[in-house]
Amino acid sequence: MSNNIITIEPVSRVEGHGKVTIHLNERNEVEKSHFHVVEFRGFEKFCEGRLMSEMPVITTRICGICPVSHHLASAKACDDVLGIDIPSPAKKLRELMHMGQIIHSHSLHFFFLAAPDFLLGPSSDPAKRNIVGLIDADPELAKKAIVLRKIGQDIIECVGGRPIHPVTAIPGGMSKPLSHEDRFNMRKDVDKAVEITQLGIKICKDIYEKYSDIISRFAVIKTNYMGLVKDGNLEQYDGKLRIIDETGKILEEFDPRNYLEYIGEHVEDWSYLKFPFYKKQGYPEGIFRVGPLGRLNAADSISTPLANKEFVEFKKLGNGKPVKETLYYHYARLIETLNAAERARELLDDDEIVSKDVRVKAERKAGEGVGVIEAPRGTLIHHYWVDDYGKIEKVNLIVATVCNNPAIDMSVNEVAKEFVNGGKIEEGALNMVEMAIRCYDPCISCATHAIGQMPLKINLLASDGKVIDVMERRV
Ligand code: MG
Ligand code: NI
Repeated sequence: MSNNIITIEPVSRVEGHGKVTIHLNERNEVEKSHFHVVEFRGFEKFCEGRLMSEMPVITTRICGICPVSHHLASAKACDDVLGIDIPSPAKKLRELMHMGQIIHSHSLHFFFLAAPDFLLGPSSDPAKRNIVGLIDADPELAKKAIVLRKIGQDIIECVGGRPIHPVTAIPGGMSKPLSHEDRFNMRKDVDKAVEITQLGIKICKDIYEKYSDIISRFAVIKTNYMGLVKDGNLEQYDGKLRIIDETGKILEEFDPRNYLEYIGEHVEDWSYLKFPFYKKQGYPEGIFRVGPLGRLNAADSISTPLANKEFVEFKKLGNGKPVKETLYYHYARLIETLNAAERARELLDDDEIVSKDVRVKAERKAGEGVGVIEAPRGTLIHHYWVDDYGKIEKVNLIVATVCNNPAIDMSVNEVAKEFVNGGKIEEGALNMVEMAIRCYDPCISCATHAIGQMPLKINLLASDGKVIDVMERRV
């Protein structure tokens, strides 16, 4: 008895290093498919014995793609250990930095990684199906995409103190207030960010119109959804965690501090990644999706007007239920980008943003603390246990890509069933599998808590475990 297995390795234009295996049965039909991450560095262990006050800076090194998210979740966890409520201007500065990260990360993903598949066509030359091809095909659009990404980057640098790995969020608040000059410069840019994002949304809708026949059969899976909400609004820095089911019913809305009561982590021996699930339903029934689709499905509204207008359109796609089509992750991501640009504008228009009251004095103390934010890719949890000396005894991290890991697996499986036939992988089919993964924008360096990035890898295996085809692509 032997199963045939296909491995796709590396999956191009996904952050980090991973691989996909597609197992075939004796009739060469897809039996099951898995998304693997082949790197494990154990950042949680590495942090033990370090000073808690160093954590907001140390944990930015987990990832070169979403360092701001770790920086902020970490600072929030430290505040929680110390029992501190930080001053309102500090909260606003952290949120502004976070909006910069969302603009930067989401625009990078849509224009540089996801859109080229559609704009150039899924079966076009893979060497051109990226930003290089986009520059050839539409240089004006490529230029705008670069500007948008830079606006996000500049916000991170102004507020976070550094362009990549920020340093200003500290236990008790922020280490420096915002200068009037930086406020003025960022304020000039955010209108442009709103405008370019609206153009992105238009492009995204055109794409959906062109590919309307595949949306309803591409990686459509049934799951729960999870995201932070505040009074029902989409929320990315604070708020409560809401879990809804596939019909839209609210299953749970809880203080993120109590996440262990609601979120379990299933373990499979073939993967380094865990498989989070909603505890009351068990595994695999309790699988949930996070990130843009998860958040927009979980929320009732968006607090900023332009994004909310678009959100109303988005909600119609579900006919009163959550939007389940995986390809709509891209639309959701752009609606969030629009919200981030509008929210940055609101924060910059608020005079409190340049207040000098950004920090409270904190006394060292033993205890436990949880910091949760919505990173671009989804819910991010930092949980620390600290001793009397302020030293870290234990760390638990749950990152967005790990939350989405079960859903990525299911999505790859759906697409492989549809597009891999007769024990062979063709370029177009291969790319469809990659496109399914890219909807989730997985961050492999985060998921493995690893340092740095590597290209990712896909294999086709037979029922005896023998590799019968390998697809290898360098990024
Ligand atoms: Mg963990
Ligand atoms: Ni990351």
